[in-house]
Amino acid sequence: MTVMLLQMDSITKKYGEFSANRSIDFSLAAGEVHAIVGENGAGKTTLMRILYGMEQPTSGTIRINGKEVSFASPLDAIRGGIGMVHQHFMLFPSFTIAENIVIGNEPGTGAAFNRREAIKTVEGLCAQYGMKVDPNAVVSSSAPGVQQRVEILKVLYQGAEIIILDEPTGVLTPIEVQELLQAIKQLSKQGKSFILISHKLSEVLDVADRITVLRDGAVTGVVNKQETDAHQLSRLMVGRELAELDRVPITPGEKVLEVSDVTINGTKGKPVLDAVSLDVRAGEIVGIAGISGNGQSELLQVISGLAQADSGRLAVAGKDVTGMSTKEIREQGLAHIPEDRYVWGANRTATVMDTGLMGHQRRLQQNGFLKLKDIRKVVSGWVQKFSIKTGSLETSTQYLSGGNLQKLIVARELEQGTPFLIAAEPTRGVDIGAMETIHGELLKRRESGTGILLVSSELTEILKLSDRVLVMYEGRIVGELPAKEATEERVGLLMAGGA
Ligand SMILES: Nc1ncnc2c1ncn2[C@@H]1O[C@H](COP(=O)(O)OP(=O)(O)O)[C@@H](O)[C@H]1O
Ligand SMILES: [Mg+2]
Repeated sequence: MTVMLLQMDSITKKYGEFSANRSIDFSLAAGEVHAIVGENGAGKTTLMRILYGMEQPTSGTIRINGKEVSFASPLDAIRGGIGMVHQHFMLFPSFTIAENIVIGNEPGTGAAFNRREAIKTVEGLCAQYGMKVDPNAVVSSSAPGVQQRVEILKVLYQGAEIIILDEPTGVLTPIEVQELLQAIKQLSKQGKSFILISHKLSEVLDVADRITVLRDGAVTGVVNKQETDAHQLSRLMVGRELAELDRVPITPGEKVLEVSDVTINGTKGKPVLDAVSLDVRAGEIVGIAGISGNGQSELLQVISGLAQADSGRLAVAGKDVTGMSTKEIREQGLAHIPEDRYVWGANRTATVMDTGLMGHQRRLQQNGFLKLKDIRKVVSGWVQKFSIKTGSLETSTQYLSGGNLQKLIVARELEQGTPFLIAAEPTRGVDIGAMETIHGELLKRRESGTGILLVSSELTEILKLSDRVLVMYEGRIVGELPAKEATEERVGLLMAGGA
């Protein structure tokens, strides 16, 4: 029997009564790419924090090349040949790339930082591993894809043989994702081993040799890439079969949103929104794709009355709403699943009931009285339909997990029954099962004639649901494609600023 490079046996991690990892076995061969998939909260990051010495297992053993090890800290793990690139980059933004890579381990003698040595070191690493970065560039002005390469070069510089990547593609453009997957393939050919945590099955199926699936802290399957597919993997992740979505053909009706030449002047001479025009018709889903930060948030704020444009006009459900307040626009027929549930969607101290009720008062009011019994029925209906985990309807929303609060707000806004709905990042932070429910409900609203403006940083979500796809780049709509022509490649290119 060959000895595995890494062998984790029967790893259990308890937090009080709760087991985040339950007797997990995991192995990694030299040069292997082993992906770990699983829904939010399945225990993936916990397992990796244990391997990287950030947490101690409650029980279980870790062996490297057959020898038992115990890492008391990340520094220990780094000495043991483990490198970890976290979900959120941990670079010094004002430092150069070279400084970031060698920091804590500077080449040369003496206390002084030897810039020339550092640059040479980084150039050497780039040549050795076939990755390109400019050692002199400052991190804060480098694209996310570049920053991630810097993180990877940093762990390679530290001598990592095993590289852990925790959800590495969340902040990348499709082109950057392709570059990352290429780099992983290239490095694994050179003998480096990877543990790749991801919830994007297409990426996993592209790059991994083996895939371990976790659910509720336990392994539900270990499969070879050749012997599996996205269906099997999602079944293992969720524990049941997922339904296929079907988007019935519709004929779009009246315009429920009209945005004409909306501009917000920026402070640096560059407009934040540059004469943006678009419309959404009844019964269609219009998706806005784009890397976040290209004006999508500002556009939604203007449409929902949270911010005022410097020029341009807006109409909702056929009425001019330019300059109106949020409340007034809502009354014209807008519902809004907000991008940031904590800022716009909920008051932390309000109960589940109060939060569910926001914006519904008028509809539920009869003869001037809110019928408490009816309201309870409606809200507990949502709790069931979306499997919202809450103690009771009187629980304060600050005790709900992010995903459960998201589901509550989605339910509330879907239920407004308005002609126009903004759905901004509607499935952020929710698991696959809830995602399926939310997508199904959005399509139901579409069929019942609501026009939906969908903004999402998940391109797969945009492509799955939209009848038309608009792409935003640097404050402008740079492309519009009907669903049939909106392929990942074409939209991805537009998102990156390509023509
Ligand atoms: N320090 C901690 N204390 C208590 N519970 C935790 C802690 N860290 C993680 N958990 C819980 O363990 C579970 C697994 O979390 P995590 O490993 O981050 O999942 P994943 O990375 O698969 O989304 C979650 O339910 C999380 O809330
Ligand atoms: Mg995680």
